[in-house]
Amino acid sequence: MGDGLSPRRVLYNGNEIPGIGMGTFGSDRYSPAEVAAAVAGAIRGGYRLFDCAAVYGNEDLIGAVFEEAINSGVVKREELFIFSKVWNDRHGRGEVLLSLAKTLRDLRLDYVDAFFVHWPFPNYHEPGCDGDARNPNSTPFSPDRFMATWQQMERLVDMGLARSIGMSNMTVPKLEAVLKRCRIKPAVLEMELHPCFQQPRLFDYCVARGIQPIAYCPLGSPNRPERDKTPEDLVDMEQPEVLAAARAHGIHPSAVCLKWAIQRGAIPIPFSVHEKNYLANLRASQGEPLTGEEMAALAKADKNCRLIKGQVFLWPGARSWEDLWESE
Ligand SMILES: NC(=O)c1ccc[n+]([C@@H]2O[C@H](COP(=O)([O-])OP(=O)(O)OC[C@H]3O[C@@H](n4cnc5c(N)ncnc54)[C@H](OP(=O)(O)O)[C@@H]3O)[C@@H](O)[C@H]2O)c1
Repeated sequence: MGDGLSPRRVLYNGNEIPGIGMGTFGSDRYSPAEVAAAVAGAIRGGYRLFDCAAVYGNEDLIGAVFEEAINSGVVKREELFIFSKVWNDRHGRGEVLLSLAKTLRDLRLDYVDAFFVHWPFPNYHEPGCDGDARNPNSTPFSPDRFMATWQQMERLVDMGLARSIGMSNMTVPKLEAVLKRCRIKPAVLEMELHPCFQQPRLFDYCVARGIQPIAYCPLGSPNRPERDKTPEDLVDMEQPEVLAAARAHGIHPSAVCLKWAIQRGAIPIPFSVHEKNYLANLRASQGEPLTGEEMAALAKADKNCRLIKGQVFLWPGARSWEDLWESE
């Protein structure tokens, strides 16, 4: 990679990270085998960063792909940058290490490059549940409880099992409550980011503190699970500012979303199982950048349109999904 548009970025702890990666969440739509096959093709095509998670239910098959790629000399382990995440039901005492141990066994690795707290509370839902599902044991965010989980994450760095640690689905108020208590600061933060949902306050807050934003749903997740769709949701790849830049450069609107993300300073992790699409996404990170005028027009396209609302994580008595995000 790399003609300047998709540079390898350097995290605050000195670890280098590719400027674009590939997601591996099959959105309850693609089987573990289909996602693993796409990871194999993506490694051959030049991807080096993969966003995995225990809850995606496919780490064992993806691990077989990593092992094969490394053993056959297609890629060296140190060239790969592998994310994984602890799911919400493994936040308790001693659980985070056990979760990473299973992930490492499944991924067939000795360490992950970054390990994330997937959501900042222990509320979870059954895989593939519908949008109305609620877990009666769910509770609001608690800084003390989060820190007990984070201290387990910090020990994974001490043990060399995770080179960096990260948070995901955070807000500025939540970060304000916990960052000052972290012995090891997060190096990466996964957040929903696409032209219609730019989270400028959270994005700038992270950048100012040396935390690298990782953009999930960078294309506006057109095939996200049904539980994550509402009639008000906007379609990023149909926004006039996106279409105008696509026409001007003769590229697909998906490439505009990715160039915008990278030029803004994020690391996007688009997903596809289709070779044509995932290779096009990698190519989009290279080649001609968007102009300053196009970047300015896209900045104005923000509609504060959150797609992954997280309503399945609400606790009894919560009013709406906005309670999860302090209405940011
Ligand atoms: N931390 C978290 O809580 C969290 C939450 C959500 C997602 N994520 C991560 O972020 C990754 C990406 O998010 P996402 O998969 O929801 O959304 P996304 O990457 O914005 O969108 C993926 C969809 O866009 C389509 N697509 C991909 N490349 C395309 C192209 N070049 N042209 C046209 N369409 C294209 C794909 O359709 P086809 O399948 O038809 O190619 C795919 O279904 C996930 O896989 C996961 O790893 C993390």
